[in-house]
Amino acid sequence: MRSKMKLMCRPPLFHLLLCCVTQTLGVQIQSDPEVSTEGVIQTEVNRTVSLLCLPDRGSETPADEELVWLRNGAVVSLMEGNRKGRSSVCISPIIHEDNGATFTCHLSRNATVKASVTLNVTYHPQLSGSEEVTVEDESVLALRCDIWANPPVSSVSWTLNGSAVDLLAGGFTVTNDGFTSQLITNSVEKSLHEGTYQCTANFPVFGEHSKIFKVTVTEKTMKFPLLPFIAGVVVVCLTTLLAVVSRWSKIMKCCK
Ligand SMILES: *[C@@H]1O[C@H](CO)[C@@H](O)[C@H](O)[C@H]1NC(C)=O
Ligand SMILES: *[C@@H]1O[C@H](CO)[C@@H](O)[C@H](O)[C@H]1NC(C)=O
Ligand SMILES: *[C@@H]1O[C@H](CO)[C@@H](O)[C@H](O)[C@H]1NC(C)=O
Ligand SMILES: *[C@@H]1O[C@H](CO)[C@@H](O)[C@H](O)[C@H]1NC(C)=O
Repeated sequence: MRSKMKLMCRPPLFHLLLCCVTQTLGVQIQSDPEVSTEGVIQTEVNRTVSLLCLPDRGSETPADEELVWLRNGAVVSLMEGNRKGRSSVCISPIIHEDNGATFTCHLSRNATVKASVTLNVTYHPQLSGSEEVTVEDESVLALRCDIWANPPVSSVSWTLNGSAVDLLAGGFTVTNDGFTSQLITNSVEKSLHEGTYQCTANFPVFGEHSKIFKVTVTEKTMKFPLLPFIAGVVVVCLTTLLAVVSRWSKIMKCCK
């Protein structure tokens, strides 16, 4: 059970907000914010959603019927006193993973007497600002933009110094897995790759968002000083060899 989900709401809230309702056989769900006629509750990350399940007005269902809540088919554990007659569930704060989650309330004794609502959590990416990137000549350059959003991104474009990135000329590949758009090149060259990059993403509801990368290409530094190292190894070997040779001549002498 997710700890973030509080299982008791303050009932007075619901007396003020009469936002009906998913009418079904015997039980109904009232919610804040309101549920659409399609049974969808529109909300955003970090908001709170309150759900109240109760018998339909005028239905045969007794007022002390025991109720059960499910989140995507898994039973939500309810506190004593929050099961009989009416039962409330609070989801606070709303997180990304709540998008598409279905909450169902049914009678404990008859699971076919039920009502359901589905959450539609909208969120936009953290895509803004400017970043300084320093990369060595001949190494990998990978620029990443967060594009995870609901409703999902409709397009992403990359520019270099104000014009569309020439993928072929720069040896670039662009990947997009719905979460991140990446611009990658495997061997950086100052004349080809230095400059100001920008990724621009378009979203159906949130509009255009973009981020800037100021890329500087520096001279290659030797990661491991190979030549001095080899010279050192050679010196050590020669010294050892000479020592052994001179020692041998002494040993040979006394074994005569
Ligand atoms: C949600 O709240 C957290 C913690 O207060 C904050 O870091 C985050 O930026 C908020 N997210 C949104 C989308 O408002
Ligand atoms: C459950 O409720 C449905 C609809 O009211 C009804 O048709 C069915 O007979 C009930 N089942 C039981 C076991 O009570
Ligand atoms: C969720 O909300 C967004 C924004 O209002 C809308 O574009 C999208 O169609 C909704 N998705 C569903 C499944 O209702
Ligand atoms: C982009 O502009 C900068 C600054 O004018 C320049 O130094 C760099 O060479 C340009 N990059 C490319 C790939 O043309």
